[in-house]
Amino acid sequence: MSRIGVLVSGRGSNLQALIDAQAAGQLGGRIVVVISNHAGVLALERAAQAGIPTVVLERQAFASRQAQHLAIAETLSAHGVDLVVLAGFDRILHPEVVRRFQHRILNIHPSLLPAFAGSLHAQADALAYGVKITGCTVHLVTEEVDAGPIVLQAAVPVFDDDTVERLSERILAEEHRILPEAVRLLAEGRLRLEGRRVQIDRSAAPA
Ligand code: GAR
Repeated sequence: MSRIGVLVSGRGSNLQALIDAQAAGQLGGRIVVVISNHAGVLALERAAQAGIPTVVLERQAFASRQAQHLAIAETLSAHGVDLVVLAGFDRILHPEVVRRFQHRILNIHPSLLPAFAGSLHAQADALAYGVKITGCTVHLVTEEVDAGPIVLQAAVPVFDDDTVERLSERILAEEHRILPEAVRLLAEGRLRLEGRRVQIDRSAAPA
């Protein structure tokens, strides 16, 4: 069973989706630690409520971003984490951390990548650009931002009278569905990389 570490920065609704999936026996692993780069955020409360250990590692407590991110990696290792989820983490992970957990880090991004890669407000960007379909993507994290192999995507239509809030809400509902599913697929060893294509084994689990 995978030991999962989740990195968060804010509201933590995706973390909540993972917690709920775990409670329903649908995550394929156990969340053993939640790490936030900001103190006092709702995500930390959600973790505490679920009885999951939390750690806060803020940028100002370290001499550099690299030192902060290495402390994040050390904390993950100290908890025996073998699968990392970026669930609304608002920073680009230092390459050394990415290398340490190679092909074991998932990120959720609120667009159909490669559209609006690297954006911290991809929903607003999609609306402003005028696309008719957007959505969300779960991908494996590589050193290039939002460019790792795609595991799952979900499409969401953009309506003429959409606001950023309404569009974000509809995308979020899909995020909450595909993120736990992607975690389960990775945890159960059902992902196989072919170049940058991810092949998914959806055969039934052995009894
Ligand atoms: C989510 O919409 C997630 O896709 C987005 O931040 C939000 C976090 O919400 N992530 C990014 O934009 C990453 N570039 P949450 O804290 O409620 O899960």
